[in-house]
Amino acid sequence: MKQTNSYIDSVFNSEDALLEEVVTSIKENGMPAISVSPSSGKFLTMLTSISQAKNVLEIGALGGYSGICLARGFGEEGNLTSLELEERYAKLAHRNVTKAGFGNQVTYMTGPALQSLEKLLEDNKKFDFFFIDADKENYENYLEYCIKLAEPGALILSDNVLAGGSVVDDSAEPKGYTEVMRKFNKTVAEHPKLESLLIPIGDGLTLSRVK
Ligand SMILES: C[S@@+](CC[C@H](N)C(=O)[O-])C[C@H]1O[C@@H](n2cnc3c(N)ncnc32)[C@H](O)[C@@H]1O
Repeated sequence: MKQTNSYIDSVFNSEDALLEEVVTSIKENGMPAISVSPSSGKFLTMLTSISQAKNVLEIGALGGYSGICLARGFGEEGNLTSLELEERYAKLAHRNVTKAGFGNQVTYMTGPALQSLEKLLEDNKKFDFFFIDADKENYENYLEYCIKLAEPGALILSDNVLAGGSVVDDSAEPKGYTEVMRKFNKTVAEHPKLESLLIPIGDGLTLSRVK
């Protein structure tokens, strides 16, 4: 999986000075190096662009890498709402997204995402694109909130669904969230309100369309 990803990244991605600065800023601030891979980021940009998404909800901002990729896809006309547990992370993400030119199109909601999602539901907000990339134990809860907040035909993208390859390969080093992801993958695949497929780039991304 690592080798395949390195190959895809090297062939399909060119240098991106801004995203490299984001990665550096995350390191310099002592934050974990767990942004999406370059190819996953490119896929986010392509999907928001192809689907003409205008109202995007991201769960898990970190330093703004995926936020920039999502915003690049919707360009001047879209908006990003990003949920992040850590105030400090959201501040760095906002600085980085601002450097990318989308500072006025992003709103950060800090604190536990489940609380922010409840607030968005109370406020009758609707979104046409979702990116789930936060604490794995809550993925199923996040998925149900996303469905409730979705416009018809909305897309939901969930990251890390391969758990480093461990969901498919018993000899791979198990992750703390291997079993959680196996269960999540089954739930998504069989969900009556979703049509889904797992795309094995980065740490695995599942693309779902809300019926
Ligand atoms: C994998 S990182 C997100 C990476 C980001 N999407 C990117 O690719 O640039 C996961 C993020 O989820 C946040 N997080 C973890 N638990 C959370 C929770 N309960 N509510 C909101 N955010 C949470 C973490 O603080 C971390 O910044």
